[in-house]
Amino acid sequence: MSATQSIHGMWSSRLAFILAATGSAVGLGNIWKFPYMAGDNGGGAFVLVYLLCVLLIGIPIMMAEILIGRRGRQSPINTMRSLAADERRHGLWVLLGWGGMVAGFLILSYYSVIAGWTLAYVFRALGGGFMGLDGESAGALFNALISDPERLLAWHTIFMVMTTIVVSRGVKSGLEQAVKVMMPALFLLLLALVGYALTTGEFQRGLEFLLVPDFSALTRGSVIQAMGQAFFTLSLGMGAIMMYGSYLPRSASILNSSLLIAGLDTLVSLLAGLAIFPIVFANGMEPGAGPGLVFMTLPIAFGQMPGGLLFGTLFFILLVFAAWTSAISLVEPAAAWLVENRGMNRVRAAAVVGTLAWLLGIVTIMSFSDWAFSFDFHGETKSNGLFDIFDILTANIMLPLGGLAMAVFASWFIGRSSTVDELQLGEGLLYRAWRFAARYLAPLGVLLIFMSGLGVI
Ligand code: TRP
Repeated sequence: MSATQSIHGMWSSRLAFILAATGSAVGLGNIWKFPYMAGDNGGGAFVLVYLLCVLLIGIPIMMAEILIGRRGRQSPINTMRSLAADERRHGLWVLLGWGGMVAGFLILSYYSVIAGWTLAYVFRALGGGFMGLDGESAGALFNALISDPERLLAWHTIFMVMTTIVVSRGVKSGLEQAVKVMMPALFLLLLALVGYALTTGEFQRGLEFLLVPDFSALTRGSVIQAMGQAFFTLSLGMGAIMMYGSYLPRSASILNSSLLIAGLDTLVSLLAGLAIFPIVFANGMEPGAGPGLVFMTLPIAFGQMPGGLLFGTLFFILLVFAAWTSAISLVEPAAAWLVENRGMNRVRAAAVVGTLAWLLGIVTIMSFSDWAFSFDFHGETKSNGLFDIFDILTANIMLPLGGLAMAVFASWFIGRSSTVDELQLGEGLLYRAWRFAARYLAPLGVLLIFMSGLGVI
């Protein structure tokens, strides 16, 4: 019998878990990363592969990750250690927890820098800086920001402090309320932006770019990046969802929660794409503009629409919140581990994690100016040095590997009756579909995409 409580506390309800996990999933990955990845990789075919990865690989792995977390009821490292012991498996499974911790640090370090750009844009919007922007001046505005390391450091610092404060007070207080209000508001603003995109005259082109697959644009690189994007955007493979699962009451349905979280997350990404690409085409910009894409396109729309000052400010505030609720989930596993194993209190644990990731963030800051270098990734030029390397290493390699290991552990190494007991789907078709997906479909999918990325197949 597994523990019914985590020492760090529990969600007050299934809804609280869904809100927190959706808060983790929906973030910069949807609004900043998805559009620029899709743009870099030629649009529709990338999106199709990404959607297939969410459905066939992401959802079964999300269920496996929540299941493991709820059974272990501790930070990912200790959860893996104790579940491996309970199931009489090899102690090396604990490496899955450690790998997740390393991935979490790397992601957090650059995530906070990008969230800093978002903070900077709140004030840009508020100060009327978006008025009358066109494609060129919006690009210049963005480049002025990212080539100024001091400014980036200031915003990165502020964001990391914000994140650390929430984690130090306990993830549960406040998160629920914040997500409940912010998510619907973000959703509505995205709808308004899609509405604006309809007026640009290039909506159809944007829609086609995003949804009509052109398979000639699909390279080995774009397939692996589409899979990486599915993991990144769903917060999978690192232990964030495992951690949140450890606070989940036994009565909640893992299947329904996973479907809802993945569905909402995908919807937000697609809406962001629909808002951005018509603006790209209407202003003669490049879909493959890279990490600055959102910051160079949406301000044009806000600068032109009625009420743009208000909507622009509000949008970037909401994006900061979305990034905040995601960053929190990147800190929580490592902080919980420090509480469990080093006897630290939460405040100290959060400060230690935040400080280390903050330091590492300097690498990303410098990647956009003095330390920038270019390299070729599957025929695509990546021009932001170590930032791109951190991103490729985490999203395209560490998260899929972590997720693969979680699926394998949950479906091959935890006893069948235990997984039946956790999933509460009975032993019928739904349960067997999950087990098949977790045992074969998801692991083989990840392996095949890896092999194609390496050029083996
Ligand atoms: N999913 C978040 C986003 O899309 C980022 C994120 C939060 C994440 N926690 C994670 C990514 C854990 C990978 C692993 O913005």
